[in-house]
Amino acid sequence: MARKRRRRKSTADTVVRQVPEDSSMTSRKRARARADRRPAERRSGSAPLLRLEEVTKTYQMGEVEVGALQGVSLEIGKGEMVSIMGPSGSGKSTLMNIIGCLDVPTSGSYFLDERDVGALSDNRLADIRGRQIGFVFQTYNLLPRMSARANVELPLTYTSGRGRRRRAQEALERVGLADRASHKPTELSGGQQQRVGIARALVKEPAIMLADEPTGNLDSRSSEEIMDVLKSLNRDQRLTVIIVTHEEDIAAQTDRVISMLDGKVVRDGRTSRQSR
Ligand SMILES: Nc1ncnc2c1ncn2[C@@H]1O[C@H](COP(=O)(O)OP(=O)(O)OP(=O)(O)O)[C@@H](O)[C@H]1O
Ligand SMILES: [Mg+2]
Repeated sequence: MARKRRRRKSTADTVVRQVPEDSSMTSRKRARARADRRPAERRSGSAPLLRLEEVTKTYQMGEVEVGALQGVSLEIGKGEMVSIMGPSGSGKSTLMNIIGCLDVPTSGSYFLDERDVGALSDNRLADIRGRQIGFVFQTYNLLPRMSARANVELPLTYTSGRGRRRRAQEALERVGLADRASHKPTELSGGQQQRVGIARALVKEPAIMLADEPTGNLDSRSSEEIMDVLKSLNRDQRLTVIIVTHEEDIAAQTDRVISMLDGKVVRDGRTSRQSR
């Protein structure tokens, strides 16, 4: 059963094909050849939290193929705070969807905690997504008729009622909104709604927080509030934070900026942020 699934999602095969064809190569030699293409500093160090190898994503639109990602290789370590920039259509959200296990690569590999995500069944993918990833959206995506606390409780479907309330309240405290728990979204400012969105992403204690333009709908003061919350979660809890943004001053507050163009990474460098 497991073997059947692995063959159906053939990313593992695809990677093997990318190593120069040599029929005399054993699978161990091929694995070593793949490992040798990783950046030198990683070969001896500890494993990164996530690693993409030559990831492509192609959408079929009728007759036309759209190459949303065209060979993206990158590594992100635990506790990094990274921003992803690039013009509209450059593949930022597609990349976030793959990192967040909402989608799998067309070819190439994605390893999360050393696990080959492309080889997992849809159920396992959903399970990893639920436990490891917190999503924050530009438009908050809160349910309007529910209180802030009820919104934050939503991901805790399998937790008992009292435990759910306690954990939601704690998550709201961590974003500085303990006193707004019973407010509905319409009774909160944009920045406060986004903080509820962050609390909802936090409530399951994920390893990675993915935020696709979290400040895109906010004025500069509220954006600052949101960045302060994300930076403190990153600093105090070593939460890995990945933010898509169009704003240079938001990107400058992260440790590292990955720039995309036409489905490729065109720049990947450290910022001068000196906060740690
Ligand atoms: N589900 C889909 N079906 C078909 N094409 C898609 C799909 N999702 C994205 N694309 C295409 O893939 C490319 C990359 O899209 P993506 O949403 O990743 O860009 P983006 O960098 O997030 O842009 P923006 O800044 O506008 O949000 C675009 O050309 C887009 O039209
Ligand atoms: Mg996008």
